[in-house]
Amino acid sequence: MNIFIAGATGFVGGHLVDYLLSQGHKLKCLARSEKAKGSLSAKGVEVIHGDITTPDTLKGILQPEDFVIHLVGIIEEKGKATFGSIHIDGTSNLVNEAKRAGVRHFFYQSALGADINSWSGYLKTKAEAEDIVKRSGLKYTIFRPSLIIGPWDGFTKKLVDMLRISPVLPIPGEGKSKFQPIYIKDWLKCLGKVIDNPDKFISAYEIGGPEHLSYKEIVEKLSKSMGHDRPSFIIPMGLMKLGAAIFEKVLPSSPVTSDQLRLLEQDNITDLNTVENNFGFAPMKYEDALKEFIR
Ligand SMILES: NC(=O)c1ccc[n+]([C@@H]2O[C@H](COP(=O)([O-])OP(=O)(O)OC[C@H]3O[C@@H](n4cnc5c(N)ncnc54)[C@H](OP(=O)(O)O)[C@@H]3O)[C@@H](O)[C@H]2O)c1
Repeated sequence: MNIFIAGATGFVGGHLVDYLLSQGHKLKCLARSEKAKGSLSAKGVEVIHGDITTPDTLKGILQPEDFVIHLVGIIEEKGKATFGSIHIDGTSNLVNEAKRAGVRHFFYQSALGADINSWSGYLKTKAEAEDIVKRSGLKYTIFRPSLIIGPWDGFTKKLVDMLRISPVLPIPGEGKSKFQPIYIKDWLKCLGKVIDNPDKFISAYEIGGPEHLSYKEIVEKLSKSMGHDRPSFIIPMGLMKLGAAIFEKVLPSSPVTSDQLRLLEQDNITDLNTVENNFGFAPMKYEDALKEFIR
């Protein structure tokens, strides 16, 4: 099948490119930098230089036979790259090009908790982007994943970097909020089923692993898998937020933003059987996934 990917150079996209090539699909990907263009071309992917916030760069890039995978998203606003410009305007631009071409199917990666009334700019604009896709008239599938983990994922990478140098396990607040991590290989399996049979999956699906784990449990399991045995250390959330607010003002890129800290304060979970019920297989437990990719 001819597959077009926007967001192919990120964590999820990188794994997806390798997976789809191994399945024999023909890929066309959007890339912004020369470096990304080079590494994708070297894999045999057709690369289109473009940016989803610039509609002119998207004109004419899609064909009727294309299956479009839209993974572009940001977790932190930086300069012109706001949640509105990337999630809402960017999605609208790509959907317009998909409509012009009359593509066969449009996949959008939203996020668990996406809600038009959310206080979080990230979750609110993800919900607005979902609406654009749903109202487009295109055949669509939307995934709303909880935390996706695997080699090079941003969340685990930040924690691993911190755990390498910290003598304790720093936990913002009490770390009680729950998450439902899904292993990237299982996410790929779900999308693989959609690609094989798109008409069976015209809906929005919440995606999560087989456990509800608190942030504290996630940090403890990760630390254990790295061979560390360290005591937890609770950092009051108020102090973390004050630090984040200062970092956001003085640093070009803050290690953590106020929006991200607020996301850590609420549960991000769904039905424990969501993958089994919708995609027909049991996803891997967090600890088993860590064994595959943490050294
Ligand atoms: N990872 C998770 O745990 C998780 C959970 C739920 C939902 N999601 C969603 O899944 C998607 C992929 O996540 P990820 O972890 O792979 O993110 P990521 O590693 O940050 O990748 C983001 C991708 O978007 C591209 N991008 C950003 N701005 C762009 C623009 N203006 N035009 C074109 N491309 C642009 C990036 O390209 P460059 O390389 O050029 O920057 C990169 O390819 C996102 O929508 C995210 O919100 C992720």
